[in-house]
Amino acid sequence: MKGIYIHIPFCAYKCNYCDFSTMTKQYSRIDEYFHLLEKEIQMYKDKSQVIDTIYIGGGTPNLVNSNYIVNIYRKLEEYFELDIQEFTIECNPEFLTPQKIEEYKSIGINRISLGVQSFDDKLNSFIGRNHKVSDVYNCFDMLNGKIDNISIDLIFAIPNQTLKSIDNDINNIKKLNPNHVSWYNMILEPGTKFYKKYKDSNRDDDMEFDMYMKICRGLDDYTHYEISNFTKKGYESKHNKIYWRDENYYGFGLSSSGYIENTRYTNEFFYPNYKSKIQKNLKPIEFKESIDQFKNKFEYIITNMRLKEGLNLTDYKNKFGIDLYEKNKNMIENWIKNGLLELKNDEINFTDKGFFVSNSFFVDISY
Ligand SMILES: C[S@@+](CC[C@H](N)C(=O)[O-])C[C@H]1O[C@@H](n2cnc3c(N)ncnc32)[C@H](O)[C@@H]1O
Ligand code: SF4
Repeated sequence: MKGIYIHIPFCAYKCNYCDFSTMTKQYSRIDEYFHLLEKEIQMYKDKSQVIDTIYIGGGTPNLVNSNYIVNIYRKLEEYFELDIQEFTIECNPEFLTPQKIEEYKSIGINRISLGVQSFDDKLNSFIGRNHKVSDVYNCFDMLNGKIDNISIDLIFAIPNQTLKSIDNDINNIKKLNPNHVSWYNMILEPGTKFYKKYKDSNRDDDMEFDMYMKICRGLDDYTHYEISNFTKKGYESKHNKIYWRDENYYGFGLSSSGYIENTRYTNEFFYPNYKSKIQKNLKPIEFKESIDQFKNKFEYIITNMRLKEGLNLTDYKNKFGIDLYEKNKNMIENWIKNGLLELKNDEINFTDKGFFVSNSFFVDISY
């Protein structure tokens, strides 16, 4: 499997928690950006590459005129061999229209990832979002019978958020019944408004744990297949699985990352740098590292363990010549004893409780 991620950085406003590379209200740059993007994609032209998934993320991809999205797709068709199984676009609820849905469908977009964040208007306004819960319901009505593969993004552990608000989110999810839910723990990213405001306040780990467990239990008609992701049968994100299974993908656009032929790269984060490199006919890469066996061993553990299926110990031994279980016997057995890890059919995987503290597993494991 091989994927393409494309970043559309334009946003109508900057949310209080977001540190993604975005340009707020800089609409006069849209035309120029898409020209640069086309040029960048052309630099990677390779008709021998078969692409299985496309993910257009942002930013707010549905803020720009759909012609831009259609034209970019035409370039992908021209420069790669497309055999698309999943084609996602991220949308902010307040900017989706029936016309945009038709245009997205016309190029084969078959999955919408809707940035809901919370089903509480007050909480959304507090985190800096402009949409209302009614916009989300409108989106589901507009998409009904047009694109049935809908994923929604939510956030928990928002400062001052209560367990009651998580219940309210779960109730709304049950009503709307999306095929897929991504529910992220809010990270206080340096440089954001929330970081400045809340970085010194103690985070309530117990409350966050209770929220996470409430989410895992509340979404009982979904399969919890990745730390932050829940799916109805057959609707796992194929594109994200490329990341999690350590497979190859291109990243195009401002700040995008890619992983091609054992090399990870990240594009320029700041627009003037991105623009200037492309104008000089250079790939707009800011960092690049080749993934040697040592890094690959660790990435393999992290990416596989993020998935509920977990890590196959025999596959790991065949790939790297190391018996991970023997090397970490005491630690693994302790995690199992504490109900944080399971060992079944030669595979280790986190329990829901284990997912919540998985970072400490990654710090302690020897590989
Ligand atoms: C970067 S946004 C782009 C999509 C769209 N603009 C939106 O905001 O819905 C993708 C998702 O990342 C998640 N996200 C962004 N910043 C985050 C943070 N600091 N902590 C946790 N999740 C975050 C949100 O759930 C969001 O839907
Ligand atoms: S969270 Fe989404 S809408 Fe808000 S600034 Fe970030 S990319 Fe834009």
